[in-house]
Amino acid sequence: MQLYDDNPTLAGVAKELDESKQGEVFYREYAQPATIAGERLFYIESYGCQMNFSDSEIVASILAESGFRPTRDVEVADLILINTCSIREKAEETVRKRLRVFDQLKRNKPGTMVGVLGCMAERLKAKFLEEEKLVDLVVGPDAYRDLPALVATADDGGKGINVYLSREETYADINPLRLDSNGVAAFISIMRGCDNMCSFCVVPFTRGRERSRDAFSIIAEATELYQRGYREVTLLGQNVDSYKWQNPETEQVVNFAALLEMTAQVHPDLRVRFSTSHPKDITDEVLHTMAAHENICKYIHLPVQSGNSRILELMNRTYDREWYMARIEAIRRIVPECAISSDIIAGFCSETEAEHQDTLSMIEYADYSMSYMFFYSERPGTLAARKYPDDIPLEVKKRRLQEIIRLQAQVSFRHNQRDIGRTFKVLIEGDSRRSSDDFCGRNTQNKMTVFPKVGQYKPGDYVNVKVLEATSATLIGEIVD
Ligand code: SAH
Ligand code: SF4
Ligand code: F3S
Repeated sequence: MQLYDDNPTLAGVAKELDESKQGEVFYREYAQPATIAGERLFYIESYGCQMNFSDSEIVASILAESGFRPTRDVEVADLILINTCSIREKAEETVRKRLRVFDQLKRNKPGTMVGVLGCMAERLKAKFLEEEKLVDLVVGPDAYRDLPALVATADDGGKGINVYLSREETYADINPLRLDSNGVAAFISIMRGCDNMCSFCVVPFTRGRERSRDAFSIIAEATELYQRGYREVTLLGQNVDSYKWQNPETEQVVNFAALLEMTAQVHPDLRVRFSTSHPKDITDEVLHTMAAHENICKYIHLPVQSGNSRILELMNRTYDREWYMARIEAIRRIVPECAISSDIIAGFCSETEAEHQDTLSMIEYADYSMSYMFFYSERPGTLAARKYPDDIPLEVKKRRLQEIIRLQAQVSFRHNQRDIGRTFKVLIEGDSRRSSDDFCGRNTQNKMTVFPKVGQYKPGDYVNVKVLEATSATLIGEIVD
């Protein structure tokens, strides 16, 4: 899953690639509706993974149903929400800093309500209310339906808290209010939670048990998006390959390969992406489904975390270096055009220099088109925090991370250079970040492509783009017939 929080590498390779905005959620579709007297405005800011951005759209829908309207101007908001991430210490620090800003806003405009949502709310629970006096609401990821009631509690002068984790909640019936929308690409949550218990990871604690959403509601959402002009959907989950839903009427089980196929059949012009795949679970069936459908994008985010088998064991990833390499081989065999990206952690507990070298050699071997790269940050309550000393000095972690980033930049550059002279089908997403004379959009391999505007093309159209130049983050080209 892509992360938009604190990642130092996002400033470089990754951020340029996905052109996404950090933190603030923008409202295009629902831009600044006229305020009706007495109507309350909410503002929402999201941190962390795509799942959180997707959840903010569910929250927005729930609030809209109870009479709130979105605003992108935090200063006029009656309700300020921050959807938080706990994945690394830095992510939590970012949230704390934003709360200082909201503190000030609240002082200037008494009566403004501040709510903390998401993973940090779940991790800290009532402690948040003790630590942060300005906070009125603390709402965990499975409790968003309760928001209107919690707001009412806060209206009455109380504090609203609900951090109950559910085994069933998937928000299947809620039609998300597309907040950060370019009108072309949208996220669809297909499952929630995670049962994997990687030893470094806080997600199972903040998101609870894994559960899959009703397949028909997913297809209905994809169909509606297509009808509204969207041309790309990304199926989201912490571990999409373990998606499993049983139709209560027929008892037929839908696995991820079947769901992918159903989504691809919504319309040949609707592109399908997915994230994140766990190396232990991605099946050949999924790969064959990808190969069989032109509109399933040839791109897999397959986080390796470490290239060394001993470290992978300590991380409780349940695969080793050889298994991971065999999955890469399967992808190359079945989906030869597929680009692969990764998440990598530098300096996990007890990692030696030789083990770090194994991670570097894996980057070469897997030939990642890009990676999200982090140094290990111990998270309270995780298996690693309880069992293994966080014994790699910060300077060593940072140096190893730099080595990883440097190598990945070279590998990405090489990957992109190979595309020069090739022509790709690109879905236009909008203006390029740098110039309104250029469009940007991604090819099937998820590579950001920038090219001059010509003719009558508009966002949502497919064009063939011939690549003329490439950096480590972007392909630069021109539209050809
Ligand atoms: N479900 C996804 C990952 C979600 S978290 C998966 O299994 O691949 C996104 C990424 O954050 C992880 O892949 C990992 O690389 C990184 N991460 C998670 N916990 C971390 C920690 N404690 N320190 C540093 N990076 C971490
Ligand atoms: Fe965390 Fe592992 Fe689950 Fe990913 S699969 S969310 S890294 S526990
Ligand atoms: Fe996502 Fe961060 Fe939570 S990565 S699941 S928002 S801890």
